[in-house]
Amino acid sequence: MSKKSQAEYVCQSCGCVYPKWQGKCDSCGEWNTIVEEKIEKSGFSVLNTKKKGGIVDFVNLNGGTELFERIKTGIKEIDRVTGGGLVPGSAILVGGDPGIGKSTLLLQICAAVAAIKKDESCFYISGEEAIDQVRIRAQRLGVENAPVKLASTTEVKDIIATIDKSNPTLVIIDSIQTMYLEDVESTPGSVSQVRACAYELIKLAKRKGFVLFLVGHVTKQGAIAGPRILEHMVDTVLYFEGERGHHFRILRAVKNRYGATDEIGVFEMQDKGLVQVDNPSALFLAERQGNVSGSCVFAGIEGSRPLLVEIQALVSQSGYSAPKRAVVGWDSNRLSMILAVLEARCGFNFSGHDVYLNIAGGLKISEPAADLAVAMAVISSLSNKPLPSDMVIFGEIGLSGEIRAVTQPSLRLKEASKLGFTNAIVPSSFGKEKKLEGISYYEIGNVHRLINWFN
Ligand code: TYD
Ligand code: MG
Repeated sequence: MSKKSQAEYVCQSCGCVYPKWQGKCDSCGEWNTIVEEKIEKSGFSVLNTKKKGGIVDFVNLNGGTELFERIKTGIKEIDRVTGGGLVPGSAILVGGDPGIGKSTLLLQICAAVAAIKKDESCFYISGEEAIDQVRIRAQRLGVENAPVKLASTTEVKDIIATIDKSNPTLVIIDSIQTMYLEDVESTPGSVSQVRACAYELIKLAKRKGFVLFLVGHVTKQGAIAGPRILEHMVDTVLYFEGERGHHFRILRAVKNRYGATDEIGVFEMQDKGLVQVDNPSALFLAERQGNVSGSCVFAGIEGSRPLLVEIQALVSQSGYSAPKRAVVGWDSNRLSMILAVLEARCGFNFSGHDVYLNIAGGLKISEPAADLAVAMAVISSLSNKPLPSDMVIFGEIGLSGEIRAVTQPSLRLKEASKLGFTNAIVPSSFGKEKKLEGISYYEIGNVHRLINWFN
């Protein structure tokens, strides 16, 4: 091995390895994260054989466990997303676009827990806003009398020293990108600062047994800024999403060591803060106009909860040589696939048409069960024939045009029935399921049956 190749350059954010130093990591796009690391000469082993390791104690799986008691916030949607309440000693990372309402949400959580505990053990530490700004927000939210301990600082050492002397239930750090540890020689927000600060705070949370909330900014690509490792370090990762123009906000669990993922909490941003939404389906369908082509209602499931949403498609003559495909709230590759299946298996032709697809209300759907609803919306717009307004649709489309079964069909239909829908298009495998009274079923096994619908 030549002398030159004894060092390699490793991105501290994503772990990508380079033969020489460069300012920007090509893999994750971060700047100044590439650091020289030595490759040990003796192959992979870096062990110092002179110093012996200690003996690890093994235990049985079925030993007694210390059952943790979850802390209920009293905000139903938060308790749902976290898997039934906050777990003492756990770290929760909350990410989201600027201005989406992270600080508002966390102040509300802090005040709610403080009001239950009544013992001044809930700390809100802001590194972004001054005390007065947080106080003004608290007044706006009507929680100024909750026994929350508020501080404005960015020094992690001070925070650790303070927490060490007290016994908090809940600590909120807004945001981890503003925090600073003087032992690390880089600016706040840099990868090494974020990682070091988070590490120290999480270690403290585990030791003292308090719930730690970290607010994380997101990058332009939508991932939480800073090292990916941050997502591995914490127990729960929540994303707070929503469209700027809409007042709905969705809190989504993407990782949860103490509960189910893909569970969502739905909120509405009002002038007095975030209000939880008990019946999200009604909210997402509120502005629907009946009898319009290109619109249909998808009966979806988010986490454990059924959710009806309107899918809107617009197919128009294209003025471009390469027709446009624009998607909001769904996967654009999946739309291309469905258009290809409709062309190949049903004989529709979209080559001269622009196709726009929108999930109304600013919701993002990732379920393949929406395929059939998307296909129906697109065909309805192309043929300019509206679908019945009291109809819900679900089913996954395969490449050969078959309609596949989806999870929990009965739960989807129960929700539809509750909201007054009386017709449903379902996969043909639904035949075995127990039928709900008051809903007429159209079972479809293959997309070519869709043509009959529009003739
Ligand atoms: P904020 O919590 O500051 O967002 P983040 O911390 O994610 O950057 O929320 C800011 C937005 O929320 C701001 O545009 C104003 C709006 N808002 C309301 O509509 N109602 C309210 O009661 C509050 C406190 C904020
Ligand atoms: Mg904020």
